[in-house]
Amino acid sequence: MTVEPATPASEKVYPVPERLLAGGNVPKPWVSSFDEYKAKWEESVQNPTKFFGNLARELLSWSKPFETVTNGSFEQGDIAWFLEGELNVAFNCVDRHALANPDKIAIIHEGDEPENVRKITYRELLQQVSRVANVLKSLDVRKGDNVAIYMPMVPEAVFAMLACARIGAVHSVVFAGFSSDSLRDRINDAGARVVLTADEGRRGGKNIATKRIVDKALETAPTVEHVLVLRRTGSDVPFTAGRDLWWHDEMAKARPYCPPTSMNAEDPLFLLYTSGSTGTPKGVVHTTGGYLLGAAATVKYVFDYHEGDIHACMADVGWITGHTYIVYGPLALGATTVLFESTPTYPDPARFWNLVEKHKVTQFYTAPTAIRALRRLGDKWVQQADLSSLRVIGSVGEPINPEAWEWYNEQVGKGQCAVVDTYWQTETGSIIVTPLPGATATKPGSATFPFFGIQPVILDPVTGQELEGNDVTGVLAIKQPWPSMARSVYNNHYRYLDTYLKPYKGHYFTGDGATRDKDGYIWIRGRVDDVINVSGHRLSTAEIESALILHHSVVEAAVVGGNDELTGQCIHAYVTLKPNIDDAKDLDKELVLQVRKVIGPFAAPKKIYIVNDLPKTRSGKIMRRILRKIVNGEQDSLGDISTLADSSVVDHLIKCVHKV
Ligand code: WT7
Repeated sequence: MTVEPATPASEKVYPVPERLLAGGNVPKPWVSSFDEYKAKWEESVQNPTKFFGNLARELLSWSKPFETVTNGSFEQGDIAWFLEGELNVAFNCVDRHALANPDKIAIIHEGDEPENVRKITYRELLQQVSRVANVLKSLDVRKGDNVAIYMPMVPEAVFAMLACARIGAVHSVVFAGFSSDSLRDRINDAGARVVLTADEGRRGGKNIATKRIVDKALETAPTVEHVLVLRRTGSDVPFTAGRDLWWHDEMAKARPYCPPTSMNAEDPLFLLYTSGSTGTPKGVVHTTGGYLLGAAATVKYVFDYHEGDIHACMADVGWITGHTYIVYGPLALGATTVLFESTPTYPDPARFWNLVEKHKVTQFYTAPTAIRALRRLGDKWVQQADLSSLRVIGSVGEPINPEAWEWYNEQVGKGQCAVVDTYWQTETGSIIVTPLPGATATKPGSATFPFFGIQPVILDPVTGQELEGNDVTGVLAIKQPWPSMARSVYNNHYRYLDTYLKPYKGHYFTGDGATRDKDGYIWIRGRVDDVINVSGHRLSTAEIESALILHHSVVEAAVVGGNDELTGQCIHAYVTLKPNIDDAKDLDKELVLQVRKVIGPFAAPKKIYIVNDLPKTRSGKIMRRILRKIVNGEQDSLGDISTLADSSVVDHLIKCVHKV
């Protein structure tokens, strides 16, 4: 395992914008100096019982108080928080705000067409969530049952998640860009009995065949008894009598109040599948109390949420970012959250900025890939909108290059907003390394400092020894448990231990390389395992390779990440073919289609190289380092190739890739 050498860091340091501290018409940040942050952080890691005990009582409503704040360790893999405590996530995210403030807007749905805006109050949210909960109950969904959600970005997807939480069912949201095969695998792994979906999705002016994809998946998903189908576009879709039910029919029958089920803090709240370096995707398990606390605490402190703010996270609810920063975090605080159905460029590249102006968004959160794409399309789109409502603008999903950071800061933030480059993962549940708006001077490209409760360490990748002090590069690990971390991998606890807790004993291993610079700032360097990050989407090389070798012409495949100006990384695939395949014409197109079909469109390789052989060691292991260097134009510094069984293959590969 190697950590790529540090890229030259931007030396610029940006202080907290004056405007945020000046006490004008913006609220005073919750943490308003670096010293205050430091003191709070130190307390949070030295006395987590006091710190998180207080925070959990401040931010969440418990139906039964906890006595023990934290128990378990990385050595044992038995982490638990707020052990005796009971609460219901839907009560926390809906009821308590509906009771105090029924007319407050909970969700602003900005539909695919900009003129289709739907606003949902907390009162209505409580009714809708209750109704879906009662429909689920009528389908015999009980506490602890798994429910799959495969839906477009419509409010009903949020109702569905909260309805599960209300009755103690465990949701598994599958991003609606996944193929039927991927959906089927996730449904089967979780043994879901009910699937919630829609007739079609709508994105960027195009219809997406959601229900047909579900039908295909269910051909080989024996545990599913019912499919609840929302009418989104109204197109004709196949309907299986007995199994399929229309959302509107069932909702009309259901009572608009359903009592929340009290859950133990450690009962699972949801599963979310994510790719690792090996094997099939893992169902990451998040639990009730700790997860919700992490979500709420980071919305409060990282986004500096204050009453009246309009929080807009542009992610999809199919990813962890959508779970935590569209749904659970903002709603736990009683915020107004924006749910965006469209794309950054539909109908034109001003879409995000018009949305900010229209809804007077105060916190805006997106991914570097979108920032880079919009920057490329020119400043006029962003300059025509009034963005003065913004205070905090965030970035997530992959390292942000300093040029994109600067553009975001100048063109979107107008130099008047806090830019928060937030580092976290599906498994961490909420943000773990980040600036705080009123406290942290930022450096473009650095996620800066740990959030409360997080003790990051940089380890020597080989010896596992902690690299203390500043100016060190290694792998990033965390030294002690925090409330919102994943507790297990569904039905595979050993895999949880193997992946996260065993590689560096006594630590949680992130899979990322990182540098702590001379001033103590953390810079994330990207994955050190065989995970590729394309536009902030996490993909496993092994999964893409498995998809490629399903094609009848392919013998072997090796996938590596190439550098890409727009998407961060992109997928390059090398394949070898069976003998006697004469007609390799159009094969590359077929192979791209194959991956789209097996995983989903977002996993499509950018380049396919049909080669005679792959570089292997004498024991038969493919040397991906060589393949990676070749696609990134580093063929002059391949390093030691003497361990290759046949080193002549290298010249052939360089010719294939660079056509020389
Ligand atoms: C991987 C996690 C949870 C956010 C959405 C992606 C990379 C995430 C940053 C950042 C550099 C980042 C890491 C991480 N990553 N945020 N601010 N700077 N890298 O969640 O699919 O679980 O992927 O995304 O490599 O391990 P995910």
